[in-house]
Amino acid sequence: MMGGFHHVSVMPEETVGGLLTTRDGVYVDCTLGGAGHALRIASELSPEGWLIGIDQDAAAIAAAEERLGAVSCRVSIVHDNFRNLDSILERLGSSAVDGVLFDLGVSSHQIDTAERGFSYMHDAPLDMRMDERQSRTAEEIVNMYSEAELARIFREYGEERWGKRIAAFIVEARKEVPVRTTAQLVDIICRAVPKAVRRASNGHPAKRVFQAIRIEANDELGILDASIRAAVHHLRPGGRIAVLTFHSLEDRIVKSALHEMARGCICPPGLPVCACGHKRELRLLGKAGKPGADEVRGNPRAKSAKLRLAEKMPEER
Ligand SMILES: C[S@@+](CC[C@H](N)C(=O)[O-])C[C@H]1O[C@@H](n2cnc3c(N)ncnc32)[C@H](O)[C@@H]1O
Repeated sequence: MMGGFHHVSVMPEETVGGLLTTRDGVYVDCTLGGAGHALRIASELSPEGWLIGIDQDAAAIAAAEERLGAVSCRVSIVHDNFRNLDSILERLGSSAVDGVLFDLGVSSHQIDTAERGFSYMHDAPLDMRMDERQSRTAEEIVNMYSEAELARIFREYGEERWGKRIAAFIVEARKEVPVRTTAQLVDIICRAVPKAVRRASNGHPAKRVFQAIRIEANDELGILDASIRAAVHHLRPGGRIAVLTFHSLEDRIVKSALHEMARGCICPPGLPVCACGHKRELRLLGKAGKPGADEVRGNPRAKSAKLRLAEKMPEER
């Protein structure tokens, strides 16, 4: 814990150990958070090394500035969305980098700060924006989306089997009074999910719906594929990308982007000569890594984590 910012980094050794290849290199942490991974990276770099840290959350930026204040390498901290990686690196004058890290999703600090509205455990305004400069809040989604749109995001982003029914209950409830708080939403979800199902399930009935609304509010999945590809584009030959994912939806997107970039020709089988011209850009560094039982015991948030590592191929002549 530092400056009131609490977040335990997931798979820190495996992630940073797998990412770093040179002490004098340029490394980008696209999801700084409380700078747990970033501090580890910075501590390994020489004074010639450069750490670029990005986060869209102002509280994370403040915590990271404090935490990285005394490291000996060069540090640039950028309050922005990693979807803008191209322009961020262009502004900093560092188009080619040696490593990029994504530790996706929300930090414990965001969840635990009740007034941010991420948690179904605390009553607060329905907000859920990681970047509070952005206009779309969870409240707007819950009150303005059609029943069909709500059902779709609950199904796609929450994998919630009662999504259709919950959407119908929300639309009924908001006819009476707008849904402005997390407690109102939790109450509606609890009424929509049958009692027997609630009793039988081991998670909170609101968990999946809150995840879905958070993903939608922050467009977490919509920007992922292009951001991973942009990061790979900026890697020097031999440079590495490390991605930590926390649920099957984001992992599917990351896996499919990395695997596609690790393939050569993607023509349909049977063509006599290659027509796609697709070049292999990456070498996958093993299968997805998972945290050990000890780590999960100490940090339950690590339970669903998967670490994917890949290396940029040398350029073909
Ligand atoms: C899991 S935390 C990172 C924790 C960090 N690795 C550590 O060890 O302390 C994820 C962070 O990424 C940020 N984030 C998520 N999506 C982002 C995006 N599209 N652009 C910039 N930051 C993002 C969140 O605001 C949050 O602070």
